[in-house]
Amino acid sequence: MTRKTYKIAAIGGDGIGVEVVDACLVVLDVLADRDGGFALNVTNFDWSTDRYKRTGEFMPADGADQLRSFDAILFGAVGAPDVPDHLTLWGLRLAICQPLDQYANVRPTRVLPGIQSPLRHVNAGELDWVIVRENSEGEYAGQGGRSHPGLPLEVATDVSIFTRAGIERIMRFAFKLAQSRPRKLLTVVTKSNAQRHGMVLWDQIAAEVAQDFTDVTWDKMLVDAMTVRMTMKPASLDTIVATNLHADILSDLAAALSGSIGVAPTANLNPERDTPSMFEPIHGSAFDITGKGVANPVATFWTAAMMLEHLGETPAAERLMQAVEAVTADPALHTPDLGGNATTRMVTDAVVESLRGRN
Ligand code: NAI
Ligand code: MG
Repeated sequence: MTRKTYKIAAIGGDGIGVEVVDACLVVLDVLADRDGGFALNVTNFDWSTDRYKRTGEFMPADGADQLRSFDAILFGAVGAPDVPDHLTLWGLRLAICQPLDQYANVRPTRVLPGIQSPLRHVNAGELDWVIVRENSEGEYAGQGGRSHPGLPLEVATDVSIFTRAGIERIMRFAFKLAQSRPRKLLTVVTKSNAQRHGMVLWDQIAAEVAQDFTDVTWDKMLVDAMTVRMTMKPASLDTIVATNLHADILSDLAAALSGSIGVAPTANLNPERDTPSMFEPIHGSAFDITGKGVANPVATFWTAAMMLEHLGETPAAERLMQAVEAVTADPALHTPDLGGNATTRMVTDAVVESLRGRN
């Protein structure tokens, strides 16, 4: 049998993005080795704010096209203290997600073994969500502009774009995902009381799509009330779908409730597989801890498991999550964000050891 080889593009980006992607490549290498069933052919890209400072571009003009020949993209984070965040985000991350039409951003949240939720009464299993974020339009469609700079009548607009096609495809994706999970439960989040056009269209299309998924129980929440429900009744939620902006915010809350943003993964999927999907931790480049060797690599390991799952390597994905959970279960292997003293290196070495079967 010939070994399957997957072409992976690795883009560490900035700050701890580079540190956690490097750690992840070590783990992936061991996993491919041990499994023997597949190989990973990794190409590293130096696309970053450093590159922008040197050349004026975060990535080459044809960067997104260069990625098309890969099977998946592993991404760290982009952002630097001395460059405005809207330049870094649009210059690299969105410059990849949007042309490659990675329209479904999937963000699982669970309290991993050994990790304490900041919610006093939550036990493991009572917080097990997947947030689906619309990743191509909405509030981050990039429409808008500024006129009369510096004058008293200066005006700035950001126009949200909600299309029937865009809403319907994310809604179908979310219902299908909810259907595949044991509880078959979906919560559709909007703000359709105050935003009476685009958000009302969301509600309407949710009701239409629901007719094709009669075995899925679904309900609606306004985004402000949703923050209360996530905090007070986490066990009442399972799969959640929301707009680009709303889900961006809710998923940071979800990450915090699961113990740390350092363990929260995400996948930017093109579900039709016309283009490669991109896998990344939710967190950013974390200037405050860059270079200290204490970044939690767990979010990136978890997103690598999502990548393997997407590539069809489910047993390897499961082995990786088992190794990660064996490591989080040991408080001596917690990085400072989880209240421990472990380093990125210690966590990485422990996952590698667990994968090699020595633990
Ligand atoms: P951040 O996620 O980088 O950091 C927030 C806090 O969480 C910091 O105290 C940081 O030390 C901590 N933290 C984050 N990840 C951690 C990890 N793996 N282990 C331990 N602690 C961790 O968010 P912040 O500070 O708002 O943004 C920093 C930069 O990152 C900005 O330039 C921002 O634009 C960018 N950013 C990029 C993202 C991306 O590339 N997808 C996502 C979020 C922010
Ligand atoms: Mg965010």
